[in-house]
Amino acid sequence: MVQYMNYRKSIDEAVYDNRNKVENDRHRLRYHLMPPAGLLNDPNGLIHFKGAYHVFFQWNPFETRHGSKSWGHYVSKNLTDWTLEEAALVPDEWYDKDGCYSGSAVEHEGKMYLFYTGNVKNEQNERSTYQCLAVSDDGMDFEKKGPVLKLPDGYTPHFRDPKVWDEGSRWLMILGARNVSGEGEAVLAQSYDMKNWEFLGPAAGSNINGLGDFGYMWECPDLFRLDGEDVLVVCPQGLEAEGDRYQNLYQAGYFTGSFDAEKGSFEHGAFDELDRGFDFYAPQTMLDDSGRRIMIGWMGMTDDREQSHPTIASNWIHALTLPRMLEVKAGKILQKPVPELEVLRGTKTAYELNLQPSEIFTETVSPASEVVVNFDKTLKNGFEMEIRKDVRIVFEDGKFIVGRNTFDKAGREQRTVELDRLEGLQIYLDHSSVEIFVNAGEEVFTCRFFPDANDNEIRLMHSNTHTVNFSHWPLDTGE
Ligand code: FRU
Repeated sequence: MVQYMNYRKSIDEAVYDNRNKVENDRHRLRYHLMPPAGLLNDPNGLIHFKGAYHVFFQWNPFETRHGSKSWGHYVSKNLTDWTLEEAALVPDEWYDKDGCYSGSAVEHEGKMYLFYTGNVKNEQNERSTYQCLAVSDDGMDFEKKGPVLKLPDGYTPHFRDPKVWDEGSRWLMILGARNVSGEGEAVLAQSYDMKNWEFLGPAAGSNINGLGDFGYMWECPDLFRLDGEDVLVVCPQGLEAEGDRYQNLYQAGYFTGSFDAEKGSFEHGAFDELDRGFDFYAPQTMLDDSGRRIMIGWMGMTDDREQSHPTIASNWIHALTLPRMLEVKAGKILQKPVPELEVLRGTKTAYELNLQPSEIFTETVSPASEVVVNFDKTLKNGFEMEIRKDVRIVFEDGKFIVGRNTFDKAGREQRTVELDRLEGLQIYLDHSSVEIFVNAGEEVFTCRFFPDANDNEIRLMHSNTHTVNFSHWPLDTGE
């Protein structure tokens, strides 16, 4: 108990010691969830519990590097006003001493149950993994119950990220795994009491169900039913880039298909990426009380550019995406920012523009703003937009391209998706982040960028004559 208190005390001290540095960082985000200090990665335990949304997150409060993770905790009644609560889980037991890794939350008989991975390393840096349970009456204070599922034969200790749901007569858990042959899988376990779990086997994976080689590890799986389809969201590691696809180091995407809960099998179609930007990983979903499937992702990535983030100088790094409502249409996931975000809108500025081919329209916007662009008719070609002299959007020859300056400003980099027509854009800017929703959420690009403080202009260019409705709102974040 003493050790437990000390750990929490040192988290409070780290937050207190860094508060001015973080607060004064001009890259700090105003309406996204970010760490009060240190490093944030995956969203965890998303749940709508007794009328409040709980978002937990992987958190190293002490450094801007990955390390021993706690579960940070934000709570909101409306998805816009968030309160940072005390860390829900800290790595203070033998079975989680090197990190309370990612996991999920469910409600049962008025209590909140958290399932997470206890990460343990020995002196030789060899890893062990324990799938653990913690329970709370109020969703604030959690009592750890220890490991509930052993590592099954045939798997390496890269076995983690339990996502649990109620399957009627029993509970099912899906986990990310690497088997002993070095293949990534999403595997299932079942329980009748949440404390004793029985391993069932893979639901999907590399070289399963006709998929072929598909990565050496799958992280953070999430399986749910939406609009008549079963959807497996998962993060495969080890995919080679293929044309415009799989350009990030690791991928976050989904399969749609049909899950047979009795057999524990998942027949599915092809994998598709959820987000086409540079900074999106480890998303998780929750079903809220109004029946919406809401997804939040990590607006970041573990890769070689991670340590060149300018915010490291202010002792914080990374953030979560906005909450997005999911829909499935014709086998494809559509993502829309939750409508609750509209309460952040300040005074609207709107233009109806008749841009001639070589004309450039320039508008100054707030660094925290929402920008909506609509066209009088569907565009087939020829649109460009520049945001704060850093992010550049181009729609040309059936491709939608988003480019940005590299974090060290030494060059440019871009991501591309094929797009046959452009109907509209909804863009959320938050000082050093941009989320671009294309054609009402058919495609999304999530990117961090670090523009100069004085560059607050948006520029629009067109190579065809069109009427463009351009609107923007400063987003009032109560500061
Ligand atoms: C994904 C991940 C998870 C793991 C967590 C550790 O980003 O690697 O698989 O549980 O991060 O922080």
